[in-house]
Amino acid sequence: MTTTAIEQPSTETCPAGFGASAESFESLKHSKDKRYFDLMAYIVSNTISGEIMAVENYSEMVPIMPNTDAKIETVKQATEESKHIKMLASLGKRLNYPVKTEIVEPQWRNIRNIFSQAVRKKDLASCLIIQDLMTETMAIVLYRVLCRDTDPETTQVAGLILEDELEHLEIGINRIKAMIAEDSDGVHDSLIWAHHKVMPELFSMISTSCHALCGELQVDCGGIGLDSIRTDIEALRVEALDTYMETLEKVGFDDKVTMPLIAGMSSYGVQPKGDISLRSDAAPSSCGTGDVSTCGLSDAPMRSTKVAPCC
Ligand SMILES: [Fe+2]
Ligand SMILES: [Fe+2]
Repeated sequence: MTTTAIEQPSTETCPAGFGASAESFESLKHSKDKRYFDLMAYIVSNTISGEIMAVENYSEMVPIMPNTDAKIETVKQATEESKHIKMLASLGKRLNYPVKTEIVEPQWRNIRNIFSQAVRKKDLASCLIIQDLMTETMAIVLYRVLCRDTDPETTQVAGLILEDELEHLEIGINRIKAMIAEDSDGVHDSLIWAHHKVMPELFSMISTSCHALCGELQVDCGGIGLDSIRTDIEALRVEALDTYMETLEKVGFDDKVTMPLIAGMSSYGVQPKGDISLRSDAAPSSCGTGDVSTCGLSDAPMRSTKVAPCC
């Protein structure tokens, strides 16, 4: 993998109204190679999976939203995620690369299952933290990446979706702030539970190899390199971590709780191996092991008794 300078996380959105003319599309076809389009097939397909998961999460969350306005707002979020699926699928069609419009990589199913556990517990704070904060933050990182050093069509679509995702994050931040005002300890416990369950899954997908996706797309798994969009795995992981920290700060979570969580993320395998086949799927499922010492809970004790420890 080509290593490039680590870019600083960007807070800007894509340039407004930046689209491809017929002429620029023609020149694009000649300026981007097969590796670029294989990379786009991989990223866009995995992104569609995340959007499908988001539709399902928002839909499942509607019945436990506290009032009718909140239910309507959540339905609207699910609808917007479904539009993103259509926009991304159409992008692949226009640029003539294959995309999967179903969930392929298992991490998305795992996060769906964790989300469903939270719904069954009627733990609305965990639901909001998983979908509105964690997933939306990762979506924002991804769409910002797709705005940079890609082609004009991809930049335009990513910019439009990014606007929605930023709004979803803002909604989530406001929802969680309101819940913290009511029950700070309970919400912090939900954060600890959701963090240990979901963040390892999300980070394991910042990778250029897969479980099955490349095979499904018939692209060369070992040949995919982020250098064709002038970045690398390490830079993406640093950007994802910084953006996640930024989200936690914006909500106003207690540093005494968030700092051990962030510190524990070094165990997610953030050190690149200098190889495009870098992956961390083996990662970090620190929960469910029964061993609290590997789970981070010893560093961040639960603050109330409402949420069962993850181990
Ligand atoms: Fe989306
Ligand atoms: Fe979203």
